[in-house]
Amino acid sequence: MPFIRESIITTLHEDGQTHITPMGAHETPNGLMLAPFKPSATLNNLLRTGTATINYTDDVRIFAGCITGRRDWPTVPTEVIKGVRLENCLTHNEVRVKTHQQNDIRPKFYCETVFEQAHQPFHGYNRAQSAVIELAILASRLHMLPEEKIQHEIEYLTIGFDKTAGDREHQAWEWLMQKITDFNETRDTQT
Ligand SMILES: Cc1cc2nc3c(=O)[nH]c(=O)nc-3n(C[C@H](O)[C@H](O)[C@H](O)COP(=O)(O)O)c2cc1C
Repeated sequence: MPFIRESIITTLHEDGQTHITPMGAHETPNGLMLAPFKPSATLNNLLRTGTATINYTDDVRIFAGCITGRRDWPTVPTEVIKGVRLENCLTHNEVRVKTHQQNDIRPKFYCETVFEQAHQPFHGYNRAQSAVIELAILASRLHMLPEEKIQHEIEYLTIGFDKTAGDREHQAWEWLMQKITDFNETRDTQT
């Protein structure tokens, strides 16, 4: 089974603006692989610049925020590539694309790390943080999943969430649940 680091990817748009998005970074024997589904701004930026920053964070509001249109998180310039990293990330990797596998649905970008830095210790995710990341993945796939499956998963995730959530996790959960509720309302009006 592949090991996937659930991370926050920062890339640069053509006009120099930052693009921030959650994405899995797959570990491979020779580095990290990013696999954005089309269409994707991250994909376009990777094709154009050939670089990205992979940020690791325990502030799960960033996962939830990006999925709910809140992409304005503080960044600082990177060390080696032209780009930015999250200001409060725990660790970041600056990567260059070595090879790119074209695909109509989900191209793959095989990357080498040119710089890595740890900024703060990582103490692991608690259950609420893991639950928020899972809910963010669900919320990014609402158009692909039946409402009953989402509802069922929310019920399960709520158990762990309720045991350990702090302020940041509550905020993130609220943003995601609002998105899911709004989406379900549009489903109801379509049926
Ligand atoms: C934890 C997490 C992991 C994700 N991993 C991926 C991924 O590997 N590939 C992908 O295309 N989208 C992934 N997504 C969904 C993207 O963040 C979302 O679809 C986003 O809009 C990508 O498009 P963008 O590059 O235009 O921002 C993930 C979302 C979350 C919350």
